[in-house]
Amino acid sequence: MAEFDNLVAIVVVLLGLLTVLYMVIKLKYPICNSSRKTKMNLPPGNMGWPFLGQTVEYLKPHLATTPGRFMEENCSRHGKIFRSHLFGHPTVVSADPELNKFILQNEGRLFECSYPSTIGGILGKWSMLVLVGEMHKHMRSIALNFMSNSMLRSRLLDDIEMQTLLTLKSWEKMEQPLSVQSETKKFTFNLMAKQILSFNSGEPETDDLMKEYFTFMKGVISAPINFPGTSYRRALKSRSKILEGVKKIMEERKKRVDIHYDDLLSNVMKDGRLSTEQILDLILNILFAGHETSAVALTLCLYFLLKFPLVIDSLRSEHLDIARRKQQQEPKDLRLNWDDYKRMEFTHNVINETLRLGNVVRFVHRKALRDVNFKGYDIPAGWKVLPVFAAVHLDPALYDNPLQFNPQRWQKMEPSTYFTPFGGGPRLCSGLELAKLEMAVFLHHLVLNYRWEMSEADRALAFPFVEFEKGFPITLTAIRQTN
Ligand code: HEM
Repeated sequence: MAEFDNLVAIVVVLLGLLTVLYMVIKLKYPICNSSRKTKMNLPPGNMGWPFLGQTVEYLKPHLATTPGRFMEENCSRHGKIFRSHLFGHPTVVSADPELNKFILQNEGRLFECSYPSTIGGILGKWSMLVLVGEMHKHMRSIALNFMSNSMLRSRLLDDIEMQTLLTLKSWEKMEQPLSVQSETKKFTFNLMAKQILSFNSGEPETDDLMKEYFTFMKGVISAPINFPGTSYRRALKSRSKILEGVKKIMEERKKRVDIHYDDLLSNVMKDGRLSTEQILDLILNILFAGHETSAVALTLCLYFLLKFPLVIDSLRSEHLDIARRKQQQEPKDLRLNWDDYKRMEFTHNVINETLRLGNVVRFVHRKALRDVNFKGYDIPAGWKVLPVFAAVHLDPALYDNPLQFNPQRWQKMEPSTYFTPFGGGPRLCSGLELAKLEMAVFLHHLVLNYRWEMSEADRALAFPFVEFEKGFPITLTAIRQTN
């Protein structure tokens, strides 16, 4: 009798487990509904391991200047649109330029931004990567205002030039070799801290914030495991400390109305439409969006240039022309102005080529809001959609010799709507002009006054965040131009 009872108990437990498993599968794979399934023409592909899917294969580090093995193998087996199971969801992955464009342009209608929930945990629930709808539009308008063209001309250009000169002087004095990867991060961080909080570089409050911020960043790009000792746990602590610090500044500013600050924090405080919590997330997010990406882009640019001395020569000659013209102008003003920036045509080709080959942001996260049919394939509502920009930017059907750094290619072609280093549609990067300006001004002073050499072989890997294995160590030498 006891044995029978045990048998019944085992059967009940097994049935229970099977029911739970079935419910989970139904929730995770809504497409398992058989009548829908027969009607749908899903893209070809492989869903990988149950529950785990293919996330590990997708995220496997690879050379940043390649689409990676996962993309190469799947595209050659299934084509540029295929299905998989990534980040815990059934997913349609796209290396197809037309589908990528369609996804970006239909944001809010057919697709919606949908980053893994752990991003919200660390960047905050008011992060622009998490927000959708009206609140996203509102936050976006603040960010766009902060980096508007008139702000770039009237203020940011001068600040970028000053920070560039300070940075290059400090590089000159540093013990060589120096890590370009760490140093460009400091450069872009200092620039952002000034615009957002009026923090000046080199001051203790800026250095403290930078230290906390870099710990925070390590957590953003690490596995979101909240255990003592993990990078993620440390990052959450740093996040709290940074937010506490900014909150204190807000309180002090409320008391000292006689002091006028012209920075993002004061502008949003004056605007009065955001709660304290929203302001804190916005500040942290602009700092995040504005410093890491441009630093990586600048590092990649210096790295690619080193392999092509002739490109450095062309770049130097463009900047020598600008410098000579400024010497001859009356009244003499050696600071760069907007007209000088507009003359940096070849520099813009170098920047485009760096972004195409380096793919700082390799893909973005979206989900389908309703059933969508594209090129004969069905994308079911609720599925994740991953437009992979890197695969399009390195596609031989669009670019000759795509794995080669060749800025000259942009002399013959205009960046098309398939060139999306800054995303596109209603979520197009709000800082794209700022990022290009930073790179151009930095290159101007670098090529005019310095030579750099790699002191140890290094390579850029995609984790998917792009990082150099050894930090890209260089030695820098000042040069004297003969004019
Ligand atoms: C080379 C440098 C940069 C690259 C490659 C880059 C790339 C991108 C991409 C691809 C997106 C779209 C994300 C998505 O659609 O899910 C984005 C969004 C954004 N970027 Fe950038 N970015 C760069 C520099 C900057 C800078 C300097 C700032 C300024 C602070 C900035 C601020 C933002 C903001 C606020 C968003 C969110 C826009 C929105 O959701 O409406 N970015 N960026």
